[in-house]
Amino acid sequence: MKPKIIVYMRVDERVIKDLEKDFDVTIFQNHEYLGNPQFDQALKEAEGIIGLALKVTKDLLDAGPNLKIVCNVSVGYDNLDIGEMTRRKIMATNTPGILDDTTADAIFGLLIATARRIPELDHFVKSGSWTISLQPEQYGVDVHHKTLGIIGMGNIGSSIAKRAHFGFGMDILYHNRSRNLQAEKDYQATYCDMNSLLEQSDFVCLMVPATRETADLMGKEQFKRMKKTAIFINGSRGKNVDETALYEALKNGDIHAAGIDVYKEEPTPSNNPLLQLKNIVTLPHIGSSTTECEFNMSKLAAENLKRGLRKEKPLTLLNE
Ligand code: DGY
Repeated sequence: MKPKIIVYMRVDERVIKDLEKDFDVTIFQNHEYLGNPQFDQALKEAEGIIGLALKVTKDLLDAGPNLKIVCNVSVGYDNLDIGEMTRRKIMATNTPGILDDTTADAIFGLLIATARRIPELDHFVKSGSWTISLQPEQYGVDVHHKTLGIIGMGNIGSSIAKRAHFGFGMDILYHNRSRNLQAEKDYQATYCDMNSLLEQSDFVCLMVPATRETADLMGKEQFKRMKKTAIFINGSRGKNVDETALYEALKNGDIHAAGIDVYKEEPTPSNNPLLQLKNIVTLPHIGSSTTECEFNMSKLAAENLKRGLRKEKPLTLLNE
């Protein structure tokens, strides 16, 4: 009998076909969770799970007594209770490295779209409003040669810095747990404390993983420190931002605008007050979502799953 696995949201179809050769696969393509009878039944028997953003909590682990491995199709793994998984000797894997350029493209695109008001002006044309010349109040702001502050200079942060430095002649400030000497050398990035970064940057781009330490890292005080002309970009996780404080900052003009790819709750409810604001450009968490990148991440996650269930070490294991 083939081992049973759960395929949870956004695994590439070609990869699922391949997995079906070795495993008895149950597929969940939405946000099914504990309490859904089909999900509960599949979880009871599953030895592995592969997919995006399934919340692996103690309760879920209790309901999955045969689980040996959970393979995230993402680099972020704030959805996994790694401590509890390690205690239970359940492997956890993610997909680092292969999404850096794709995510940096998306986040830099969001930055430009916010600065140049691209979605708003796209709507202006398509809705037939372009019957008179553009008015000064519709102008955007320059990106090139401005100062970009990157909070979290890991692999994706560095890929954003590369685009900003070589493509747009921007000055780069960064804040990180430790110095990133490579980024300093390659992109002339300058390390500084968080407050100085907030005060001096024209664009503040948040790229830290979600941990206990980064919860609501950007709150009322941090937005107040930013320039009134500055633009805030969140390409990390919604948990890292106090959404009420962001709303107030945007509404009161403490900051100029924001580009937001991620929310505390995803999908974000349509009545989230942030969505009512004109000075926000937003996306449904698309950092790594290109055909090529999703396929490569699915492939790596599937390889991890196969190795783990063959009792070999997965390629990108998070817990030893
Ligand atoms: C990641 O890989 O962490 C992306 O944000 C998609 O979740």
